[in-house]
Amino acid sequence: MARLIFFWAIALALISIVNATTLTRLFKNQFNSKRNLFALNKRALSPQLGPFTFPQKVDHFDWNNHATFPQRYWVNSTNYRPGGPIIFFNVGESDASGFTDYLIEGETSLLAQRLGGVVIVFEHRYYGESNPVPVPLGIPVSFWQKTEPGDPGPFEEFCQAFNNATTPSAQVAAYASWTTAYAANACQNQTQDDYFGTHDPKASKCTNTTLNNDDRSWLWQTCLEFGYWQTAAPKGHLTLISRLVTPDYFQRQCQLFFPVSILSSKPRTNYINEKFGGWKLEADHIFWINGEFDPWRSLSVAAPNAPTRLSTEKSPNVLIKDAVHVWDAFWSPTTTIPEPIVEVHNQLVASLSGWLKNFNTI
Ligand SMILES: *[C@@H]1O[C@H](CO)[C@@H](O)[C@H](O)[C@H]1NC(C)=O
Ligand SMILES: *[C@@H]1O[C@H](CO)[C@@H](O)[C@H](O)[C@H]1NC(C)=O
Ligand SMILES: *[C@@H]1O[C@H](CO)[C@@H](O)[C@H](O)[C@H]1NC(C)=O
Ligand SMILES: *[C@@H]1O[C@H](CO)[C@@H](O)[C@H](O)[C@H]1NC(C)=O
Repeated sequence: MARLIFFWAIALALISIVNATTLTRLFKNQFNSKRNLFALNKRALSPQLGPFTFPQKVDHFDWNNHATFPQRYWVNSTNYRPGGPIIFFNVGESDASGFTDYLIEGETSLLAQRLGGVVIVFEHRYYGESNPVPVPLGIPVSFWQKTEPGDPGPFEEFCQAFNNATTPSAQVAAYASWTTAYAANACQNQTQDDYFGTHDPKASKCTNTTLNNDDRSWLWQTCLEFGYWQTAAPKGHLTLISRLVTPDYFQRQCQLFFPVSILSSKPRTNYINEKFGGWKLEADHIFWINGEFDPWRSLSVAAPNAPTRLSTEKSPNVLIKDAVHVWDAFWSPTTTIPEPIVEVHNQLVASLSGWLKNFNTI
């Protein structure tokens, strides 16, 4: 476990030398490493699971706009028992075809088995092939999707780089050597200036508007809506990240990717927090789960600065000790799951069973 925490400390330190796009890739690579760690292996899917599409409205707010686009999803109803729930997994900021293992394994499948439910894996609009704009679709080929079962993955590679480094200076040297190799590998056929640079509007990462590019879609959401910049800690707090990595550093890159006419000087974070409640959101029948060392924890209701949130029967609130990002999502019948995660799964199943029993009266 200590190694995992160390990994994140190093990963966060890296933020000072990479740009927003690279960062997104880096986090995705780490995400994939966890998939290997918890043995959610890629497998051939039965075609009866999908993918399917349905005609989704392009605009939910303009009643006169009847335009639709095909939105993609997968379904496993093998475990369904009458009265059982729909376990709906909105994959979010990725091509969802990389997450179809969750139809058969993972927390989603565990819930379907225990509660007699149907699993739906759903692709967010503007990711993968669920694009409201009709242009030819490409084949998704991001780095992490190429990882094969049995491949140790970037996470193991990173840890192995420290195998022989027992003194601090040897560890720094090992880290430098890993970073150099990472940079070379990440840039592939691009120059390091093009790949890591943050000033050139002609760089291909800025000008390439081909669809099915998770990085660009995510950047649009962060530039215009969420912020989510991974910056240094505020002054007066210890920081792993260079103080030069400020919100402005990220924000000024937005205009290299998107027309200035649609950008505002900063993302609409206040609007989003007000509309959806932010740290103050209160609603029954939400089971909050966070990881103690998740780098995204500061954005969650479990952020150290967030108002204290009690764990109640109607809205349980769990912080998994020593966990990093979405660790509860991992479950497989053939893997030994760490005890704190098993405990969360049991609490989750107990809460959902109770809520479902009273579904018609709540
Ligand atoms: C659906 O998932 C279960 C595991 O929860 C698996 O046993 C079953 O084979 C899956 N259904 C199909 C059609 O693959
Ligand atoms: C660590 O040392 C062993 C034995 O000398 C060597 O085989 C291995 O390649 C080294 N590993 C790294 C990551 O340097
Ligand atoms: C890099 O260039 C080589 C030689 O031109 C080509 O075979 C390879 O596919 C390129 N790789 C990428 C990722 O574009
Ligand atoms: C442009 O982006 C698409 C989608 O991510 C990618 O497949 C393609 O290789 C990119 N083209 C160049 C020239 O980088």
